Amino acid sequence: MSMTDVGEVLITEKQIRARAKELGEQITKDYRGRQLVVVCTLNGGVMWTCDLIKNIDLDVRLDFLSAHSYGSSTVSSGVINVTHDLETNIKGKDVLFVEDIIDSGNTMAHLLKLFKTREPHSLAVCTMLNKEARRTADLKPDYIGFEVDDLFIVGYGLDFDQKYRHLPYVSYLRPEDIDD
Ligand code: IMP
Ligand code: MG
Repeated sequence: MSMTDVGEVLITEKQIRARAKELGEQITKDYRGRQLVVVCTLNGGVMWTCDLIKNIDLDVRLDFLSAHSYGSSTVSSGVINVTHDLETNIKGKDVLFVEDIIDSGNTMAHLLKLFKTREPHSLAVCTMLNKEARRTADLKPDYIGFEVDDLFIVGYGLDFDQKYRHLPYVSYLRPEDIDD
């Protein structure tokens, strides 16, 4: 499979940046006067986090989290393994998790449960993409960039087998390309 085999562009960089501006301004209003710990969930959340935080006019602290859920390649189990934890003590803090995509919702639902035990003042989720059709966990993202259909999405941080993360747009893989 070559890099040119991705499907058509679903969302352009320009659209993503415009949406990041809208949501950044909304977040600024919602947390006015407060400090906000923004948690970039690695690796997929990296591009969207960069776009978003440039538009948040608050006392922002940026931290990073790497968590993987056990399960098959297409369905996450929700059993979470944190491989890189936060450096920030979030007790009493307002925390915003920034994700690339919420699919089943299992990963984020378990992360929220885990991080609640650290007694933050609040926990919220901002996802670039929301694949509502596949939701099984009881999870509603607080901020959503775009709704996407039930496709295997790549680009703008999202990978297939670690490839395509760098694409400056959101695209998808055709099922026949995923099987090989
Ligand atoms: P969930 O636990 O099913 O919500 O899936 C969470 C994680 O699976 C996301 O943060 C992504 O890393 C990955 N994922 C889910 N859907 C896609 C997709 O369409 N393309 C690439 N990665 C995906
Ligand atoms: Mg992810």
